[in-house]
Amino acid sequence: MPLISNLKGRIVFNSRGNQTVEVDVVSDGRYIGRACAPSGASVGKHEAQSFPQNDPKKAIQTFRSHSHKFIGAEASDPKAIFEILKSIDQTPSYTIIGGSIAYALSIAAVDSASKALDVPLAKVLRKDKPYKNPFPLGNILGGGAHAGPGTPDIQEILVCPIGAGDIMQALQMNFKVHSELRKVLENVDSSFTYGRGDEGAWAPRTNNDKAVELAEQSIKNSGFTVGREVGLGIDFASSSLWNSDKLCYEYKRQHLSRDTEEQIEYVNSLIQKYNLIYVEDPVHEEDFQSMTEITKKNEKCIVTGDDMLVTNKERVIEASKYGACSGAILKVNQAGALYDAILFAQECDRNNLKLITSHRSGESVDSHTSHIAIATQSRMIKSGIVGGERISKLNELLRLAEYDLIDGMADLSS
Ligand code: PGA
Ligand code: ZN
Repeated sequence: MPLISNLKGRIVFNSRGNQTVEVDVVSDGRYIGRACAPSGASVGKHEAQSFPQNDPKKAIQTFRSHSHKFIGAEASDPKAIFEILKSIDQTPSYTIIGGSIAYALSIAAVDSASKALDVPLAKVLRKDKPYKNPFPLGNILGGGAHAGPGTPDIQEILVCPIGAGDIMQALQMNFKVHSELRKVLENVDSSFTYGRGDEGAWAPRTNNDKAVELAEQSIKNSGFTVGREVGLGIDFASSSLWNSDKLCYEYKRQHLSRDTEEQIEYVNSLIQKYNLIYVEDPVHEEDFQSMTEITKKNEKCIVTGDDMLVTNKERVIEASKYGACSGAILKVNQAGALYDAILFAQECDRNNLKLITSHRSGESVDSHTSHIAIATQSRMIKSGIVGGERISKLNELLRLAEYDLIDGMADLSS
């Protein structure tokens, strides 16, 4: 099995032009694996800390002073890398070495192993079949922390090509709806600039309610039936809306606020009206009770925790005491190391939570996320919609579908 023989860390830039860290791991003297840490804009309170003292340079310095400890480790074994990381940094949120180094190092190691073993990374992580293709959740219209003033408070309006028979068709359907939406937006606002948010979603000047209506229209204009061929979803990212002093959700761009009861009613009414198949963080990250209410009332909708669960096994255990979620976002960098995320995925499986593997809004052109989605048997994958750093992951799904290891699309229903 491949053993780590060399490591290198450097500062590079992410898709927002901000500094981040990248790590190279070399196995057996010649197989180079590389990974670059992503970063979020709507960051959960319980996520791993990205950099020690919020400084990428400090992260690289700390990494360099400890990198020799990884020499000789088994590159294909995320647990082995995790244990060395934990011997350096025992803090629960990686405040000493930083979650970004934990991310980049642990993924670069398996990337290097995949090259040494000459198999896709997905196969290094999961030996037993079946492997299914996750459905791409396409972010077609956005606002919140991903876009500027005038756009909706809601962070993401998503489409899922639930009627697609394969990944090529699935991606084509999402792109069709995204481009159809541009025409819909032009029709309602002749001054629409084609502006897009961090993940490639259109960022128009419109309010929340109108935005969902226009998204639905774009599905219909594409020739699809909402809820049959293409489902609609919403990521409220509502921790960003929550005002903990006033105890209400502030939709500042629409000049209105909702207390908890009103927020639950609003979410339920949107789920019913648009037959939503997916909602994410409809209430703030600490409100397990309200989340449970929404989950219990809407059995057909995947009610997903992102900031609520932060890819943290303990949070899944806590949420599952209530039955708070039916879906769970997996973002490796929320947890830190790849093995943290694997433990999280296993806990989600035990509690029947559907996994959705996700990129971050600040990304690189890496495509490891697609392999991780397949290896964790995720039902869906979030990778924005267009732009090089989004497409790199979606195109990787097409390449992976060429391998005989993939057998059809994931099952969204059971
Ligand atoms: P982030 O948001 O990557 O900006 O945190 C993505 C999401 O909330 O799903
Ligand atoms: Zn989210």
